[in-house]
Amino acid sequence: MTHTDDAVAPEQEHFDALIADDSRIEPRDWMPEAYRKTLTRQISQHAHSEIIGMQPEANWITRAPSLKRKSILMAKVQDEAGHGLYLYSSAETLGTPRPVLNDQLLTGRAKYSSIFNYPARTWADMGAIGWLVDGAAICNQVPLCRASYGPYGRAMVRICKEESFHQRQGWEILYELSHGTDAQKKMAQDAVDRFYGPALQMFGPPDADSPNSQQSMAWNIKRFSNDELRQRFVDMIVPQAEALGLTLPDPDLVWNEERQHYDYGELDWDEFMSVIKGRGPCSVQRMKRRREAHENGAWVREAAAAYAERQAARAAEAANHEDHETETAPSSQRPAAQLIGA
Ligand SMILES: [Fe+2]
Ligand SMILES: [Fe+2]
Repeated sequence: MTHTDDAVAPEQEHFDALIADDSRIEPRDWMPEAYRKTLTRQISQHAHSEIIGMQPEANWITRAPSLKRKSILMAKVQDEAGHGLYLYSSAETLGTPRPVLNDQLLTGRAKYSSIFNYPARTWADMGAIGWLVDGAAICNQVPLCRASYGPYGRAMVRICKEESFHQRQGWEILYELSHGTDAQKKMAQDAVDRFYGPALQMFGPPDADSPNSQQSMAWNIKRFSNDELRQRFVDMIVPQAEALGLTLPDPDLVWNEERQHYDYGELDWDEFMSVIKGRGPCSVQRMKRRREAHENGAWVREAAAAYAERQAARAAEAANHEDHETETAPSSQRPAAQLIGA
């Protein structure tokens, strides 16, 4: 089909109409290449973050202070693996197979959330990660349930339900510590001091330095800007910190009557950029561990592939056999389903 330069192709017109309608784009719909590329990058980075994000917490499963804490933490880390799987599946519907996405992570070409390059030093960090990191994830992800790309939005619905449980368990760990001995309270405060800044940076750079956000918002992938979401998060955690009896490490944090929001201080964006570039305190360790896990899992992938192959061969053989029987058997012996043409 040919069309002049200023005419809009019908498939683009259809796509634009769906977006203008706040409707959903599904895998079989035509979509602009840039939309497909942006989503593939965003969803796969999100998936990588879930998988790498298992590491700082998995580290504490064997050292959890009680059987109850251990089983809760184990369930939480398993949830994160599940989030990774839903998201890889969702990304694959855009046409890039999972081994390719995985390879992008393992070769360092794909990024994941910078927060997971920080160490989890004490048990209280399990509390701070749940409360602040999963809390920031919820603020970011609830609006993504309405993302224009169907498989992404639907994956986010279930993920968000699990994230709210994660945040709650983190808050509860911190509550118990902050109402415990002086040493426990100190440990809780120290964890919050270390995770507060990096958690606020999870929303990405300030709007002025986030040139791609506008396009993502125009496509109804993103619903709010980085700074809007960060503000929402700050407003949410200030009263929660008060309830915990802990302070947030920002002397500029103050209620602004006029704006009806909390003002907060400038974040360390140089540190953020340096962590993004792979110079975070645990960047090397996280990637090394991920590569090892991938190599150690090779036999599982091989076994799964061999099993799938055998199942497919059996199914083909059974179908063959059935065809043969259908051809030769008298009509009274054919399976009922075939007689009615199902
Ligand atoms: Fe998650
Ligand atoms: Fe989570």
